[in-house]
Amino acid sequence: MGTFGCIVWSLVYFLDTTMSQAPPASASRSFHCVNDVSLCKDVVIDPRAGEANTPSTQLKVLTPQTDCPAGFFKCNSVVCGVPSVQPSPANGYVTANSAPWQAYIASDTYGYIGGGVLVNQYNVVTAAHKVSNITNKPPVSIKVSLGMYTTASTQNVQVVQVSQIWQNSGYNAQYLKNDVAILRLATPINFSANIRPICLPTAGKSYVTDSTTNCLVTGWGQTNFNVIDAPTRTLKQAYVPIVSNDKCTASYTQVLGAAYTAAYLDFPGELCAGGQAQIDACTMADLHWFVETVPVLR
Ligand SMILES: *[C@@H]1O[C@H](CO)[C@@H](O)[C@H](O)[C@H]1NC(C)=O
Ligand SMILES: *[C@@H]1O[C@H](CO)[C@@H](O)[C@H](O)[C@H]1NC(C)=O
Repeated sequence: MGTFGCIVWSLVYFLDTTMSQAPPASASRSFHCVNDVSLCKDVVIDPRAGEANTPSTQLKVLTPQTDCPAGFFKCNSVVCGVPSVQPSPANGYVTANSAPWQAYIASDTYGYIGGGVLVNQYNVVTAAHKVSNITNKPPVSIKVSLGMYTTASTQNVQVVQVSQIWQNSGYNAQYLKNDVAILRLATPINFSANIRPICLPTAGKSYVTDSTTNCLVTGWGQTNFNVIDAPTRTLKQAYVPIVSNDKCTASYTQVLGAAYTAAYLDFPGELCAGGQAQIDACTMADLHWFVETVPVLR
């Protein structure tokens, strides 16, 4: 049970209808107009109507052909969840630039720690169990690389120091509940063709779909329980379904028994993805991350 939750740790993003229709390249980069220049920082535009990150009314999103009205400052902005290259439909290696939010987290002392996702210029979301032992040991000695595709190349890669780690106060290390942490970057990341933010899921929205085509896990994690190959050299991906709580509970019960299943599963604030032999993964729902890593769940 000690290594439970540690294999193939990586991230899921949502390929919903918005994302699966390849957007025009210009749609992913835009600018916005603000009445206070300090608001230029940290702005990510969420294209999904009514979603959590929708810019406040202080921000006015304009088409690239339009200029800002008098009294407003023009700032660059980026739309979340839109890669410059569409992901490959197959499991295996990631197509370059198709997972531009993927973060590579490494400790000065221990090397590769795990993956994360960029949600804006300053913040990377990861699993609390990846950084829990480092959280209370300042100065933080973790670096995050963005724009990384293969660990063998630093071309177009931005590396920044982490200045602060926030761990969910409800994190339970024994049963991996509320397994989420936010890494604050010491300097802001510059968005580019290979570095873009992911959207956060919407609170209260169900993402359950048994479809195996609209949820994609990416990471450099171990590819098998007994194969210590992390970090893998090139970023890998796997498609997984998001299954219902009932289906998740039934699968876990088969493998772990009822008592451990009750201890580990954390509904309703949890989302259950994977259940695919050899390609299990973790995901998140409303910032409740869930690492699902039992190798064979059928
Ligand atoms: C974190 O610290 C605890 C207690 O000191 C230890 O048992 C555990 O193995 C450590 N975890 C990692 C990933 O180093
Ligand atoms: C972002 O761009 C600025 C201006 O070119 C540069 O000074 C800074 O180092 C860049 N940030 C990163 C993380 O590379």
